[in-house]
Amino acid sequence: MEKIILEEKQGNPTFKVSLKNNSKKLYIESYGCQMNFSDSEIVASILDKNGYNTTRNLEESDLILLNTCSIREKAEFTVRNRLKSFKKLKKQNPKLIVGVLGCMAERMKESLLEEEKLVDLVVGPDAYRDLPSLLENVEGGQKSVNVLLSREETYADISPVRLDSKGISGFISIMRGCDNMCSFCVVPFTRGRERSRSPLTIVAEAKDLYQKGYKEVILLGQNVDSYRWNTNKKEEVIDHNIPTTNFSELLEKVALVANDLRVRFSTSHPKDMTDDVVHVMKKYRNICNYIHLPVQSGSSKILQKMNRGYSKEWYLKRIKSIREIIPDCAISTDIITGFCDESDEDFQETLDLMKKVEFNFCYMFFYSERPKTLAERKYKDNVPLEIKKSRLQKVIDLQKEHSLKSNESSVGKIMEVLVEGPSKKSALEYCGRNDENYKVVFPKEDSKEGDYVNVLIERFTSATLIGKII
Ligand code: SAH
Ligand code: SF4
Ligand code: F3S
Repeated sequence: MEKIILEEKQGNPTFKVSLKNNSKKLYIESYGCQMNFSDSEIVASILDKNGYNTTRNLEESDLILLNTCSIREKAEFTVRNRLKSFKKLKKQNPKLIVGVLGCMAERMKESLLEEEKLVDLVVGPDAYRDLPSLLENVEGGQKSVNVLLSREETYADISPVRLDSKGISGFISIMRGCDNMCSFCVVPFTRGRERSRSPLTIVAEAKDLYQKGYKEVILLGQNVDSYRWNTNKKEEVIDHNIPTTNFSELLEKVALVANDLRVRFSTSHPKDMTDDVVHVMKKYRNICNYIHLPVQSGSSKILQKMNRGYSKEWYLKRIKSIREIIPDCAISTDIITGFCDESDEDFQETLDLMKKVEFNFCYMFFYSERPKTLAERKYKDNVPLEIKKSRLQKVIDLQKEHSLKSNESSVGKIMEVLVEGPSKKSALEYCGRNDENYKVVFPKEDSKEGDYVNVLIERFTSATLIGKII
């Protein structure tokens, strides 16, 4: 069995993974947030060293893993249905192993084995190193579960096997877990305590991706602004012999890897995001002018109930400050409608906040009560479903107006676009993203995937800018 070799090269570690002829085939499917997609790459790497190559063909797989999400009831419903769809395959191939990973595994634990008779393996987000031995148990005829959460695990030494990637954009997990305890959110229960990964391994991974030809890295964490290395929560230094690193410093270190390596990050938290981060963004051209800053609600009363740690006024001040430092910075958000006790006036505050900010993009949901959360234990889920949904529709309609307005203002502008791949509609067109994370479609001409091209924007739809290379 080979190991990942962490080589010291002029003080900079680089990752090396040797290849071998694996005999078994892993089919892995990811649901939920980018962190889950990133985790699947860690899982693929662990299993690559234990006899599994990945496949995109379900029929030829020896092992099916679903990396699941619990954020809303619907997310879990989708996974249950997907599991049911494997019944026929299991009948055809009794040796086929089906496993559930990720947040739903952590939340439901052993009960998943009983509920869906076809699950053989349940593994929580901090237990992936145990997969090879758990699989051995399953091969020996035993169902296996490991849902232990860890205070330390960051998988820092594992070089992910990049799945479903064209070698252009790569995820780098910089931290795991979340300590925020927003009252609606299941993540602290499924992902455990917050912990950061060493900056040395993060920068090494960015360098490794760059050397392999990647053009973009996306730094991931549930709350990247609380990234900390070698300090505790009270900002006290832990080991005086090594330097401390906060998120703005980490961002700078990654930006310095190469000036043509784009850097993105997600997610920022309004209560923790500092101007230092925005100043670093301004200083480095390769850090994208884009911040995802979930607000959840525009009502300070609801925000307090949500335990978000900020008010509407605080949020608006953060936006003002970002725009003072980087006037053209794109800002996106998440909004939940129909949280416990949300009155019509509270909801109007959300629409009002949206009108004040005019977000570039918005991810919109109606509230879904999750087991174990503070809201489930203490509050009544008392906004009727029809009202949750009709409020959501109003949010969607307003966002559409704002998106169209901002897209319209892009017409006539020239934008640097990183070519990601063919557009969905035409084989003659490419699709890519600009600095502000807008999707841009244009005729290919002689450009290729991974190129930076300058595109003149001529037209738009609500979700896409359309133009030509100049
Ligand atoms: N860490 C990020 C969010 C992670 S979850 C943050 O703090 O902003 C992604 C989004 O899902 C959240 O921002 C929220 O808008 C939504 N969400 C989380 N729990 C939800 C629930 N119980 N019902 C509906 N939407 C929810
Ligand atoms: Fe959930 Fe809040 Fe943590 Fe985001 S910050 S993951 S919403 S608890
Ligand atoms: Fe879902 Fe877990 Fe991410 S609940 S959103 S997959 S952290």
